[in-house]
Amino acid sequence: MRRIAFLLVAFATVAGIVASSARASGHADEAADTIFGIKIPPGYRDWKLISVAHEEGSLNDIRAILGNDRAIKAYREGKLPFPDGAIIARLAWSYVPSEENNKVFGRAQSFVAGSATNVQFMVKDSRKYAATGGWGFAQFKDGKPDGEAKLNTCFPCHVPVKARDFVYTRYAP
Ligand code: HEC
Repeated sequence: MRRIAFLLVAFATVAGIVASSARASGHADEAADTIFGIKIPPGYRDWKLISVAHEEGSLNDIRAILGNDRAIKAYREGKLPFPDGAIIARLAWSYVPSEENNKVFGRAQSFVAGSATNVQFMVKDSRKYAATGGWGFAQFKDGKPDGEAKLNTCFPCHVPVKARDFVYTRYAP
């Protein structure tokens, strides 16, 4: 009886851990994109920060660029090209004024992350993605992958930074 109770507790604990890690990573197990076969990498929301950026114009977003351990290591050591297995994530949110913060500042000056717009990934696999500089590209909105038309625009626009292994973002110290 004790043993059964113990097993039940153990099972519930594991189930809880699995459920919470799925939440932390967003939508862990959803569809892969159709060209590069990339799924949302589990746990990406916990990766380390490379830098941040703000786009105006039609995007008008604020974004964080995160890297998995391999990407961060390469950045910190200044190593190019990035090694296979490196993944860079770009998370973006609408760029919105914060009334709450402005109240304490006494004037309109605060902008914060609003709702999430989309998440992009660049996944390094020099053999599999040889045709696109060794990088696979993916973009997800609400956990759903964008299709071929969108993904065909990614690589050509990253070619101008070929000398930095097709990666625009510099490491923010
Ligand atoms: C119009 C040109 C353009 C297109 C199209 C484009 N990118 Fe980028 N991308 C950029 C620029 C410029 C940056 C750096 C500035 C920024 O973060 O906005 C960037 C940044 C990134 C980053 C962060 C790493 C880095 O290179 O700085 C990822 C990941 C990324 N893009 C993925 C994608 C994916 C996936 C697609 C296709 C769905 C895509 N990009 C399409 C220009 C582009």
